[in-house]
Amino acid sequence: MKIYPSIDEMRAASRAAKLGGLRLGFVPTMGALHAGHLSLVRAAKAQCDVVAASIFVNPLQFGPNEDFAEYPRTFERDRDLLEKEGVDFLFVPSAEEMYPAGSVTYVSVEGLSKRLCGRSRPAHFRGVTTVVAKLFHIVEPDMAFFGQKDAAQVAIIRRMVRDLSFPVEIIVCPIVREPDGLAMSSRNAYLNQRERKSALGLYRSLTEVKRCFDQGEGRAAKLIEAGMRVLKEETGLRLDYLEIVDPETLEPVTEINRVVLLAVAAFAGPTRLIDNLLLGA
Ligand code: PAJ
Repeated sequence: MKIYPSIDEMRAASRAAKLGGLRLGFVPTMGALHAGHLSLVRAAKAQCDVVAASIFVNPLQFGPNEDFAEYPRTFERDRDLLEKEGVDFLFVPSAEEMYPAGSVTYVSVEGLSKRLCGRSRPAHFRGVTTVVAKLFHIVEPDMAFFGQKDAAQVAIIRRMVRDLSFPVEIIVCPIVREPDGLAMSSRNAYLNQRERKSALGLYRSLTEVKRCFDQGEGRAAKLIEAGMRVLKEETGLRLDYLEIVDPETLEPVTEINRVVLLAVAAFAGPTRLIDNLLLGA
């Protein structure tokens, strides 16, 4: 596995691979890798000839009171894991490489970026789309792999790719969970034993909503009520949102007569966690 800290070297490696007619897959990450990230790498390996990954804890997508400084950085372990998975190129730029002094240009997907997590994290999605646009320009992948875990991120990146005509195919991979149902996340490392137990409330609320939906309830308000009952029982959680929305526009849905996205975000102690599932899929 070749490791590139510089934009020029990363781009040269990608271009050389593509000139040779190889299909290039790309998996962007912020590191602290777990089985969820590795499932994206495996999907990329299965569908592409050459796979690039990136590790970059993107300062632009963290709010002023968020966990940028504490975000887990486990480079050696991540590098070994990616090497074992057969990743060909690893892009690991510094913040200065990605955002040279004086950078003032952003990519913003209007509207969608203010929904779900965007409501309580106002600059978050602008940070995500700006870095992903840059990464796409640098790596120039044929296919890029994202996790359904971050369902709003997927909708927003898909829209950016469409609106700005990026020549990249977005592939979305299923959520990888712990055996008890908790969605894997780099932030799970922050949880103490008590918070880890409370965190399960997210998945429990989603499965309760799904149970009611499967029994024939199609009114979003009733389904949200059922999910809220479960969340209220879990006193260790502080809810941010539980919503049923259109998976593409992220706009609220009142009646479920097509595939919809059920998404939840809550704090377990100081740690903000998210989870979701598709209803009607
Ligand atoms: P990060 O949180 O490191 O996640 C990298 C990718 O792994 C994302 O596409 C995310 O959805 C996926 N992922 C995380 N947990 C997962 C799980 N349990 N199952 C399946 N996939 C999972 O998302 C980001 O980084 C950043 O916003 C990034 C896109 C890299 C831009 O900075």
